[in-house]
Amino acid sequence: MSEFLSARYENMKPYVPGEQPKDMQYIKLNTNENPFAPSSAVAKVIKNFDVEKLRLYPTPENKELKVALADYYKVEIENLFLGNGSDEVLALIFMAFFDKEKEVCYPDISYGFYPVYADLYCLKKNEIAVNSDFSIDVDAFIKTEKNIVIANPNAPTGMAISAKEIEQIVAANLKRLVVVDEAYIDFGGESVTGLVNKYRNLIVVQTFSKSRALAGARFGIAIADKKIIYDLEAIKFSFNSYNVNRLTEAVALEAIKDEKYTQKCVKEVIKNREWLSTQLKNLGFEVLPSSTNFVFARTNEINGYELYAELKRRGILIRQFNKERISEFVRITIGTMEQMKTLVLEIESILKK
Ligand SMILES: Cc1ncc(COP(=O)(O)O)c(C=O)c1O
Repeated sequence: MSEFLSARYENMKPYVPGEQPKDMQYIKLNTNENPFAPSSAVAKVIKNFDVEKLRLYPTPENKELKVALADYYKVEIENLFLGNGSDEVLALIFMAFFDKEKEVCYPDISYGFYPVYADLYCLKKNEIAVNSDFSIDVDAFIKTEKNIVIANPNAPTGMAISAKEIEQIVAANLKRLVVVDEAYIDFGGESVTGLVNKYRNLIVVQTFSKSRALAGARFGIAIADKKIIYDLEAIKFSFNSYNVNRLTEAVALEAIKDEKYTQKCVKEVIKNREWLSTQLKNLGFEVLPSSTNFVFARTNEINGYELYAELKRRGILIRQFNKERISEFVRITIGTMEQMKTLVLEIESILKK
Protein backbone atom coordinates (compact mmCIF):
# COMPACT_ATOMS: atom_id res chain seq x y z
CA MET A 1 0.00 0.00 0.00
CA SER A 2 1.36 3.44 -0.86
CA GLU A 3 1.17 6.46 1.39
CA PHE A 4 -1.11 8.07 -1.19
CA LEU A 5 -4.07 5.70 -0.78
CA SER A 6 -7.16 7.31 0.69
CA ALA A 7 -7.57 6.35 4.35
CA ARG A 8 -11.05 5.04 3.64
CA TYR A 9 -9.59 2.18 1.59
CA GLU A 10 -6.76 1.22 3.96
CA ASN A 11 -8.46 -1.98 5.06
CA MET A 12 -9.99 -2.96 1.72
CA LYS A 13 -9.67 -6.64 0.90
CA PRO A 14 -10.54 -7.09 -2.76
CA TYR A 15 -12.58 -10.06 -3.93
CA VAL A 16 -10.38 -13.01 -4.87
CA PRO A 17 -11.69 -14.83 -7.95
CA GLY A 18 -10.91 -18.50 -8.59
CA GLU A 19 -7.25 -19.06 -9.46
CA GLN A 20 -6.05 -19.32 -13.08
CA PRO A 21 -2.62 -21.00 -12.72
CA LYS A 22 -0.45 -21.34 -15.83
CA ASP A 23 2.04 -23.99 -14.62
CA MET A 24 0.17 -26.83 -16.33
CA GLN A 25 -2.99 -27.65 -18.25
CA TYR A 26 -5.74 -28.02 -15.64
CA ILE A 27 -9.28 -29.29 -15.86
CA LYS A 28 -10.80 -26.03 -14.68
CA LEU A 29 -13.81 -26.57 -12.44
CA ASN A 30 -13.31 -23.60 -10.10
CA THR A 31 -15.00 -20.50 -11.53
CA ASN A 32 -18.40 -21.71 -12.74
CA GLU A 33 -17.67 -21.02 -16.39
CA ASN A 34 -19.58 -22.79 -19.13
CA PRO A 35 -17.65 -25.85 -20.40
CA PHE A 36 -19.01 -25.28 -23.90
CA ALA A 37 -18.00 -22.63 -26.45
CA PRO A 38 -20.25 -19.63 -27.05
CA SER A 39 -22.80 -19.93 -29.88
CA SER A 40 -21.36 -20.30 -33.41
CA ALA A 41 -23.22 -17.06 -34.22
CA VAL A 42 -20.91 -15.36 -31.69
CA ALA A 43 -17.83 -16.81 -33.42
CA LYS A 44 -19.17 -15.62 -36.77
CA VAL A 45 -19.84 -12.06 -35.65
CA ILE A 46 -16.31 -11.80 -34.23
CA LYS A 47 -14.78 -13.19 -37.42
CA ASN A 48 -16.69 -10.71 -39.55
CA PHE A 49 -16.31 -7.80 -37.12
CA ASP A 50 -15.33 -4.58 -38.88
CA VAL A 51 -12.20 -3.56 -36.93
CA GLU A 52 -12.54 -0.04 -38.33
CA LYS A 53 -15.55 0.32 -36.00
CA LEU A 54 -13.27 0.12 -32.95
CA ARG A 55 -11.96 3.55 -33.92
CA LEU A 56 -15.33 4.92 -32.86
CA TYR A 57 -16.89 5.05 -29.41
CA PRO A 58 -19.82 2.70 -28.95
CA THR A 59 -23.25 4.24 -29.38
CA PRO A 60 -24.09 5.50 -25.87
CA GLU A 61 -27.41 3.72 -25.62
CA ASN A 62 -26.57 0.32 -27.27
CA LYS A 63 -30.05 0.52 -28.77
CA GLU A 64 -30.00 -2.61 -30.97
CA LEU A 65 -28.88 -4.79 -28.07
CA LYS A 66 -31.39 -3.23 -25.70
CA VAL A 67 -34.21 -3.84 -28.19
CA ALA A 68 -33.25 -7.53 -28.47
CA LEU A 69 -33.02 -7.86 -24.67
CA ALA A 70 -36.35 -6.08 -24.17
CA ASP A 71 -37.93 -8.52 -26.59
CA TYR A 72 -36.39 -11.52 -24.78
CA TYR A 73 -37.29 -10.39 -21.25
CA LYS A 74 -40.67 -8.90 -22.26
CA VAL A 75 -39.92 -5.47 -20.83
CA GLU A 76 -39.33 -2.03 -22.32
CA ILE A 77 -35.84 -0.78 -23.08
CA GLU A 78 -36.20 1.74 -20.26
CA ASN A 79 -36.36 -1.22 -17.86
CA LEU A 80 -32.86 -2.36 -18.85
CA PHE A 81 -29.43 -1.44 -17.56
CA LEU A 82 -26.28 -2.85 -19.20
CA GLY A 83 -22.94 -3.41 -17.52
CA ASN A 84 -19.49 -4.94 -17.92
CA GLY A 85 -20.41 -8.18 -16.21
CA SER A 86 -23.01 -8.44 -13.48
CA ASP A 87 -20.27 -7.66 -10.94
CA GLU A 88 -20.17 -4.13 -12.27
CA VAL A 89 -23.97 -3.94 -12.22
CA LEU A 90 -24.02 -5.11 -8.58
CA ALA A 91 -21.24 -2.68 -7.63
CA LEU A 92 -23.23 0.20 -9.08
CA ILE A 93 -26.40 -0.94 -7.30
CA PHE A 94 -24.56 -0.96 -3.96
CA MET A 95 -23.14 2.47 -4.78
CA ALA A 96 -26.43 4.00 -5.88
CA PHE A 97 -28.91 2.71 -3.33
CA PHE A 98 -27.20 1.77 -0.05
CA ASP A 99 -25.60 3.96 2.58
CA LYS A 100 -25.44 4.44 6.36
CA GLU A 101 -29.17 5.15 6.60
CA LYS A 102 -30.31 2.89 3.76
CA GLU A 103 -28.68 -0.29 5.02
CA VAL A 104 -28.44 -3.55 3.12
CA CYS A 105 -28.53 -7.17 4.24
CA TYR A 106 -27.71 -10.43 2.49
CA PRO A 107 -27.31 -14.10 3.49
CA ASP A 108 -24.17 -14.93 5.53
CA ILE A 109 -23.30 -17.66 3.06
CA SER A 110 -23.57 -16.17 -0.38
CA TYR A 111 -21.60 -14.52 -3.16
CA GLY A 112 -18.29 -13.30 -1.72
CA PHE A 113 -18.47 -10.00 -3.56
CA TYR A 114 -21.38 -8.62 -1.46
CA PRO A 115 -19.27 -7.98 1.67
CA VAL A 116 -16.51 -6.56 -0.53
CA TYR A 117 -18.92 -3.99 -2.00
CA ALA A 118 -20.17 -3.26 1.52
CA ASP A 119 -16.58 -2.49 2.56
CA LEU A 120 -15.90 -0.49 -0.59
CA TYR A 121 -18.82 1.82 0.16
CA CYS A 122 -18.25 1.83 3.94
CA LEU A 123 -21.56 0.04 4.62
CA LYS A 124 -22.43 -2.04 7.63
CA LYS A 125 -22.28 -5.75 6.79
CA ASN A 126 -25.70 -7.05 7.86
CA GLU A 127 -25.67 -10.78 7.31
CA ILE A 128 -28.70 -13.02 7.78
CA ALA A 129 -27.71 -16.58 8.64
CA VAL A 130 -28.83 -19.30 6.26
CA ASN A 131 -30.76 -22.17 7.86
CA SER A 132 -28.95 -25.27 9.16
CA ASP A 133 -29.68 -27.03 5.85
CA PHE A 134 -28.01 -24.01 4.10
CA SER A 135 -31.31 -22.81 2.58
CA ILE A 136 -32.10 -19.09 2.65
CA ASP A 137 -34.12 -18.00 5.70
CA VAL A 138 -37.07 -16.55 3.79
CA ASP A 139 -38.95 -15.46 6.95
CA ALA A 140 -35.98 -13.43 8.17
CA PHE A 141 -35.83 -11.61 4.84
CA ILE A 142 -39.59 -11.01 4.96
CA LYS A 143 -39.23 -9.46 8.41
CA THR A 144 -36.14 -7.30 7.91
CA GLU A 145 -36.60 -3.58 7.35
CA LYS A 146 -33.34 -3.29 5.43
CA ASN A 147 -32.67 -3.38 1.71
CA ILE A 148 -31.94 -6.89 0.52
CA VAL A 149 -29.55 -8.63 -1.84
CA ILE A 150 -30.17 -12.31 -2.49
CA ALA A 151 -28.52 -14.58 -5.01
CA ASN A 152 -31.14 -16.97 -6.35
CA PRO A 153 -30.06 -19.70 -6.85
CA ASN A 154 -27.58 -18.95 -4.11
CA ALA A 155 -23.82 -19.38 -4.44
CA PRO A 156 -21.82 -21.26 -3.34
CA THR A 157 -24.60 -23.50 -1.99
CA GLY A 158 -26.35 -23.86 -5.36
CA MET A 159 -29.73 -23.91 -3.61
CA ALA A 160 -32.75 -22.00 -4.91
CA ILE A 161 -35.87 -20.54 -3.36
CA SER A 162 -39.10 -20.30 -5.36
CA ALA A 163 -40.34 -17.26 -7.28
CA LYS A 164 -43.28 -17.23 -4.87
CA GLU A 165 -40.92 -16.88 -1.90
CA ILE A 166 -39.03 -14.06 -3.62
CA GLU A 167 -42.35 -12.34 -4.31
CA GLN A 168 -43.31 -12.66 -0.62
CA ILE A 169 -40.06 -10.92 0.31
CA VAL A 170 -40.56 -8.18 -2.29
CA ALA A 171 -44.22 -7.64 -1.37
CA ALA A 172 -43.60 -7.65 2.40
CA ASN A 173 -42.09 -4.18 2.38
CA LEU A 174 -42.44 -2.01 -0.68
CA LYS A 175 -40.32 0.71 0.90
CA ARG A 176 -37.09 -1.24 0.63
CA LEU A 177 -35.23 -2.47 -2.39
CA VAL A 178 -34.88 -6.19 -3.14
CA VAL A 179 -32.04 -7.12 -5.49
CA VAL A 180 -32.19 -10.66 -6.86
CA ASP A 181 -28.90 -11.82 -8.36
CA GLU A 182 -29.95 -14.44 -10.91
CA ALA A 183 -26.47 -15.33 -12.20
CA TYR A 184 -27.33 -19.06 -12.29
CA ILE A 185 -31.08 -18.85 -12.95
CA ASP A 186 -31.02 -20.70 -16.28
CA PHE A 187 -29.75 -23.91 -14.68
CA GLY A 188 -32.89 -24.59 -12.68
CA GLY A 189 -34.22 -21.57 -10.77
CA GLU A 190 -37.48 -19.67 -11.24
CA SER A 191 -36.75 -16.20 -12.55
CA VAL A 192 -38.64 -13.17 -11.26
CA THR A 193 -37.91 -10.89 -14.23
CA GLY A 194 -41.66 -11.07 -14.91
CA LEU A 195 -42.32 -9.25 -11.62
CA VAL A 196 -40.47 -6.01 -12.42
CA ASN A 197 -43.56 -4.51 -13.98
CA LYS A 198 -45.54 -5.32 -10.84
CA TYR A 199 -43.07 -4.15 -8.14
CA ARG A 200 -41.19 -0.86 -8.19
CA ASN A 201 -38.79 -2.10 -5.47
CA LEU A 202 -37.37 -5.11 -7.34
CA ILE A 203 -34.10 -5.28 -9.29
CA VAL A 204 -33.20 -8.49 -11.09
CA VAL A 205 -29.56 -8.91 -12.11
CA GLN A 206 -28.46 -11.45 -14.70
CA THR A 207 -25.20 -12.33 -16.42
CA PHE A 208 -24.13 -13.71 -19.80
CA SER A 209 -21.07 -15.33 -18.14
CA LYS A 210 -22.72 -18.62 -17.24
CA SER A 211 -25.49 -20.07 -19.43
CA ARG A 212 -24.38 -18.01 -22.45
CA ALA A 213 -20.67 -18.82 -22.09
CA LEU A 214 -19.48 -15.20 -22.38
CA ALA A 215 -17.55 -14.73 -19.13
CA GLY A 216 -14.65 -13.25 -21.11
CA ALA A 217 -16.86 -10.66 -22.80
CA ARG A 218 -18.04 -9.22 -19.45
CA PHE A 219 -21.73 -8.60 -19.93
CA GLY A 220 -24.43 -8.34 -17.28
CA ILE A 221 -27.76 -6.59 -16.96
CA ALA A 222 -30.23 -5.25 -14.45
CA ILE A 223 -33.97 -5.29 -15.08
CA ALA A 224 -36.09 -2.99 -12.95
CA ASP A 225 -38.58 -0.15 -12.81
CA LYS A 226 -37.71 2.73 -15.16
CA LYS A 227 -36.95 5.12 -12.30
CA ILE A 228 -34.44 2.69 -10.81
CA ILE A 229 -32.75 2.27 -14.20
CA TYR A 230 -32.66 6.06 -14.53
CA ASP A 231 -30.85 6.31 -11.17
CA LEU A 232 -28.41 3.56 -12.06
CA GLU A 233 -27.56 5.16 -15.39
CA ALA A 234 -27.04 8.51 -13.69
CA ILE A 235 -24.45 6.90 -11.41
CA LYS A 236 -22.79 4.84 -14.12
CA PHE A 237 -22.56 7.73 -16.60
CA SER A 238 -20.97 9.83 -13.89
CA PHE A 239 -17.77 7.85 -14.21
CA ASN A 240 -18.05 6.02 -17.54
CA SER A 241 -20.41 7.38 -20.12
CA TYR A 242 -20.62 4.19 -22.20
CA ASN A 243 -22.60 1.08 -21.38
CA VAL A 244 -20.52 -1.68 -22.95
CA ASN A 245 -17.87 -1.84 -25.68
CA ARG A 246 -18.65 -2.56 -29.33
CA LEU A 247 -17.32 -6.13 -29.32
CA THR A 248 -19.29 -7.08 -26.21
CA GLU A 249 -22.37 -5.46 -27.69
CA ALA A 250 -21.99 -7.54 -30.87
CA VAL A 251 -21.47 -10.89 -29.13
CA ALA A 252 -24.18 -10.36 -26.52
CA LEU A 253 -26.65 -9.60 -29.31
CA GLU A 254 -25.87 -12.89 -31.06
CA ALA A 255 -25.98 -14.83 -27.79
CA ILE A 256 -29.41 -13.56 -26.80
CA LYS A 257 -30.76 -14.42 -30.26
CA ASP A 258 -29.43 -18.00 -30.19
CA GLU A 259 -31.67 -19.26 -27.39
CA LYS A 260 -31.77 -22.74 -28.91
CA TYR A 261 -28.03 -23.16 -28.41
CA THR A 262 -28.16 -21.73 -24.88
CA GLN A 263 -30.84 -24.24 -23.95
CA LYS A 264 -28.86 -27.10 -25.51
CA CYS A 265 -25.80 -26.26 -23.36
CA VAL A 266 -27.92 -25.77 -20.24
CA LYS A 267 -29.56 -29.17 -20.74
CA GLU A 268 -26.17 -30.84 -21.06
CA VAL A 269 -24.84 -29.09 -17.93
CA ILE A 270 -27.92 -30.16 -15.94
CA LYS A 271 -27.50 -33.76 -17.13
CA ASN A 272 -23.83 -33.75 -16.11
CA ARG A 273 -24.69 -32.12 -12.77
CA GLU A 274 -27.20 -34.84 -11.94
CA TRP A 275 -24.70 -37.53 -12.95
CA LEU A 276 -21.93 -36.01 -10.82
CA SER A 277 -24.26 -35.54 -7.82
CA THR A 278 -25.22 -39.21 -7.95
CA GLN A 279 -21.60 -40.33 -8.24
CA LEU A 280 -20.53 -38.15 -5.31
CA LYS A 281 -23.40 -39.43 -3.16
CA ASN A 282 -22.39 -43.00 -4.01
CA LEU A 283 -18.91 -42.13 -2.74
CA GLY A 284 -20.40 -40.99 0.57
CA PHE A 285 -20.59 -37.24 -0.06
CA GLU A 286 -23.37 -35.00 1.15
CA VAL A 287 -24.35 -32.96 -1.93
CA LEU A 288 -26.60 -29.92 -1.51
CA PRO A 289 -29.49 -29.79 -4.03
CA SER A 290 -28.14 -27.69 -6.89
CA SER A 291 -30.09 -25.49 -9.32
CA THR A 292 -26.85 -24.13 -10.79
CA ASN A 293 -23.86 -25.13 -12.92
CA PHE A 294 -21.92 -26.30 -9.87
CA VAL A 295 -22.35 -28.59 -6.87
CA PHE A 296 -21.44 -27.95 -3.25
CA ALA A 297 -20.46 -31.11 -1.44
CA ARG A 298 -18.64 -32.47 1.61
CA THR A 299 -17.52 -35.80 2.99
CA ASN A 300 -16.27 -37.03 6.36
CA GLU A 301 -13.46 -38.90 4.59
CA ILE A 302 -11.34 -35.88 3.71
CA ASN A 303 -11.57 -32.21 4.57
CA GLY A 304 -12.42 -29.61 1.95
CA TYR A 305 -8.97 -28.05 1.71
CA GLU A 306 -7.17 -31.40 1.42
CA LEU A 307 -9.50 -32.55 -1.33
CA TYR A 308 -8.97 -29.27 -3.19
CA ALA A 309 -5.16 -29.50 -2.79
CA GLU A 310 -4.97 -33.17 -3.78
CA LEU A 311 -7.10 -32.61 -6.89
CA LYS A 312 -4.93 -29.63 -7.84
CA ARG A 313 -1.83 -31.85 -7.64
CA ARG A 314 -3.62 -34.16 -10.05
CA GLY A 315 -4.44 -31.35 -12.49
CA ILE A 316 -8.03 -30.57 -11.49
CA LEU A 317 -9.02 -27.18 -10.06
CA ILE A 318 -12.04 -26.89 -7.79
CA ARG A 319 -12.92 -24.23 -5.19
CA GLN A 320 -12.84 -24.37 -1.41
CA PHE A 321 -13.74 -21.49 0.89
CA ASN A 322 -11.88 -20.87 4.12
CA LYS A 323 -15.04 -19.64 5.82
CA GLU A 324 -16.95 -20.65 8.92
CA ARG A 325 -19.72 -23.23 8.36
CA ILE A 326 -18.58 -24.14 4.86
CA SER A 327 -14.86 -24.89 5.05
CA GLU A 328 -15.58 -28.64 4.89
CA PHE A 329 -17.28 -28.19 1.51
CA VAL A 330 -15.88 -28.03 -1.98
CA ARG A 331 -17.57 -26.28 -4.89
CA ILE A 332 -17.21 -28.07 -8.19
CA THR A 333 -18.18 -26.46 -11.50
CA ILE A 334 -20.00 -28.77 -13.88
CA GLY A 335 -17.86 -29.54 -16.93
CA THR A 336 -18.16 -31.88 -19.89
CA MET A 337 -19.03 -35.52 -19.21
CA GLU A 338 -15.43 -36.47 -19.96
CA GLN A 339 -14.18 -34.00 -17.33
CA MET A 340 -16.75 -35.24 -14.82
CA LYS A 341 -15.65 -38.86 -15.35
CA THR A 342 -11.98 -37.95 -14.86
CA LEU A 343 -12.88 -36.02 -11.71
CA VAL A 344 -14.82 -38.93 -10.21
CA LEU A 345 -11.97 -41.37 -10.95
CA GLU A 346 -9.49 -39.04 -9.24
CA ILE A 347 -11.75 -38.54 -6.20
CA GLU A 348 -12.18 -42.33 -5.93
CA SER A 349 -8.42 -42.77 -6.01
CA ILE A 350 -7.87 -40.03 -3.39
CA LEU A 351 -10.45 -41.57 -1.04
CA LYS A 352 -8.86 -45.04 -1.41
CA LYS A 353 -5.52 -43.61 -0.26
C1 LIG B 1 -23.80 -15.13 -7.58
C2 LIG B 1 -22.97 -14.43 -8.60
N1 LIG B 1 -23.33 -13.21 -8.99
C3 LIG B 1 -22.61 -12.53 -9.91
C4 LIG B 1 -21.48 -13.06 -10.47
C5 LIG B 1 -20.68 -12.21 -11.42
O1 LIG B 1 -20.70 -12.63 -12.72
P1 LIG B 1 -20.17 -11.73 -13.90
O2 LIG B 1 -19.52 -10.51 -13.33
O3 LIG B 1 -19.24 -12.58 -14.66
O4 LIG B 1 -21.40 -11.35 -14.69
C6 LIG B 1 -21.06 -14.34 -10.10
C7 LIG B 1 -19.83 -14.93 -10.68
O5 LIG B 1 -19.40 -15.99 -10.45
C8 LIG B 1 -21.83 -15.04 -9.13
O6 LIG B 1 -21.44 -16.25 -8.70
